[in-house]
Amino acid sequence: MSQNSSENFTILNSFKNISADVPPVWLMRQAGRYLPEYRELRAKAGSFLDLCYSPEFATEVTLQPIRRFGFDASILFSDILVVPHALGQHLEFVEGEGPRLDPIKSGIDLAKLNPEAVGDKFNLVFEAVSSIRSALPKETALIGFCGAPWTVATYMIGGRGSVDQAVTRLFAYQNPEVFEKLIDLLVEISSQYLIGQVEAGANLLQIFDSWAGNLPDQEFQKWSIDPTARIVREIKSRYPNIPVIGFPRGAGPGYKTFIEKTKVDGVSCDTSLPLSYMRDELCPLGAVQGNLDPLVLVTGGDALMRRVDEILETMSGKPFIFNLGHGIVPQTPPEHVAQLIARIRG
Ligand code: CP3
Repeated sequence: MSQNSSENFTILNSFKNISADVPPVWLMRQAGRYLPEYRELRAKAGSFLDLCYSPEFATEVTLQPIRRFGFDASILFSDILVVPHALGQHLEFVEGEGPRLDPIKSGIDLAKLNPEAVGDKFNLVFEAVSSIRSALPKETALIGFCGAPWTVATYMIGGRGSVDQAVTRLFAYQNPEVFEKLIDLLVEISSQYLIGQVEAGANLLQIFDSWAGNLPDQEFQKWSIDPTARIVREIKSRYPNIPVIGFPRGAGPGYKTFIEKTKVDGVSCDTSLPLSYMRDELCPLGAVQGNLDPLVLVTGGDALMRRVDEILETMSGKPFIFNLGHGIVPQTPPEHVAQLIARIRG
């Protein structure tokens, strides 16, 4: 059982509407290829999925950026595509290209997925979560996560990443019943997956809807907001005090409705959101996290310092968590991350 309710991590204050002089900081994809120690372990482990399913390796990789930079939170090292993989969909990560899945093309393909089988893979992730929680410094919070049903569905139906998710959007228009069944399945399994992570020791959760921004308004409501709201409700019915962060990347003005309707405790903001909008419109509704451009972190120097100062000034006195607007990119010099942390902590 989780012991986290008695812990007091600085990042959790942000969800109680308490601001800090120095905001808590962590970065999306803080473990990964920009770190030489990650690349070394990855070469030893073999494939990326071998890393994800080895509690020992996943623990080591999760801790690497904590040792180097002392972030206020760590994030479980895994991937959102563990969910389709656990359901039995074939998944590979092709070097230099990204994920490849056998695409779901019909209700028949969908029916081949096996919700009974998820424990085989999920239990390895839960083992990793509890091993990470034991290995982390006591002041470092552990974030569990999953992909939002829409974003995960775009990979399950498209079979790979894409810029516009056209294959999946078209599928949802043309086969609404099958698509709805897939979303329902993902709501159920993702809820189970997040609850398992909490029980293994995760202190807060993030739901990544990385492709929410390509949905028209009504579909955003139907395929992003509604399923996320159902997952949040399910988690809160068991663990009312576990904070949940939503990340409806690219949702623009939809961010506000997203917080109100899903009842997430906070949102991760992408780079497109103006700081004044985050402060004035979103902060009154929950914790706000974001939103430095990952490419400014690659650039470093004065450009980085100027932007960090602007973010800190604008969000000062608010329940704010410093983060990027999207994940760290592999070409990021690790020294720039150290400089970023030093600037935030003054
Ligand atoms: O440090 C962390 O943030 C935790 C681990 C994490 C990974 N992926 C590790 C990873 C998390 C939270 C994710 C989420 C994820 N995965 C998302 C949502 C967030 C986002 O970035 O929008 C998505 C869409 C995926 C799917 C995915 N996984 C893609 C498209 C790719 C290939 C692109 C790439 O960056 O290589 C991955 C692979 C992946 N996931 C890597 C890592 C460290 C690289 C794998 C490697 O070592 O080769």
